[in-house]
Amino acid sequence: MIKHIIECSQFDREWMEKRVFPTADQFADGLNRGLHYAFMNRLSGKSLLCLFFEPSTRTIKSHERAGKLLGMSVDVTENASVFSSAAKGESLEDSIQVLARYHYDVIVLRHKEIGAAERAAQVIDAHGLHARIVNAGDGAGEHPTQALLDLYTIWRERKRKIDGIHVVFGGDLKHGRTVRSLARLLAKYKNVTMAFVAPDEVQVTPDILEYLRENGVEYSLTDNLHSTLPSADVFYQTRLQLERVGEDEGLRRKLQELQQHYRIGQTEVALMKPDALIMHPLPRVEEILFEIDGNSRSAYFRQAQNGLYVRMALLVDMFDK
Ligand code: NCD
Repeated sequence: MIKHIIECSQFDREWMEKRVFPTADQFADGLNRGLHYAFMNRLSGKSLLCLFFEPSTRTIKSHERAGKLLGMSVDVTENASVFSSAAKGESLEDSIQVLARYHYDVIVLRHKEIGAAERAAQVIDAHGLHARIVNAGDGAGEHPTQALLDLYTIWRERKRKIDGIHVVFGGDLKHGRTVRSLARLLAKYKNVTMAFVAPDEVQVTPDILEYLRENGVEYSLTDNLHSTLPSADVFYQTRLQLERVGEDEGLRRKLQELQQHYRIGQTEVALMKPDALIMHPLPRVEEILFEIDGNSRSAYFRQAQNGLYVRMALLVDMFDK
């Protein structure tokens, strides 16, 4: 049992495959058969706060929905950078200390600064408070619950076989936290190889590559999208994170132009294996064309749906004695 969920290195394979994923399977099955009542009171009496300082659709709503389906009392503060006392200059530490004193069991936190979730967890522990932090994205840092649902999607779609696969990451690999988290999680599997395809300006950062080297993962870097497609078992596409690029208009325009050469449409899908998976954490902007939504390889909406089941499984696991 993990207290705070801050980064992917906390997850081990056995815990994911023996506990979280099978429980997520049960929730998927139950909800798809309309058996909401079967788990409605699993976490009644427990409480959840979603505290989001950055925009979100899936992460906030799937946590809110997961909590409610399990019978938790759920509060949501979205737009916290404008509608919380952060707008008056309050530090994250002070906000968290106060909110934790209101007896929340879980605080799901999204923040623009790397390390924010870790700081929040430290404040809680330093004051002997009881709330658990779930990192729902800390700037360009990590997004561990997203990586867990991404991995669950691969596990589910590939009939539990992850060892030996080749995963290609595309898009904005410099600023995307989902890539950082998923690459780390996949490194726990045997003989998984990776390729990172992006223009140099947004290529993957050295910390990820160092982590992969330390863990004996083979990888390659390229700026040629088409060369990566035939060998991919999973193509994990991401959007250009313009909100993390800065104010330089020239760079922003250049990245937007470059991005046009990294789109996945029918031409690209035709080069892929018939059973390859195309994934994306969403939101997509223009990097996956609508024309491939009906293709069986396109797994991104199933992936988003899995987020609900995985987050339910994670919440249940947090309170499992
Ligand atoms: C991602 C995020 O916020 O990091 N979205 C998500 O949580 N599903 C990816 C993104 O915003 O591009």
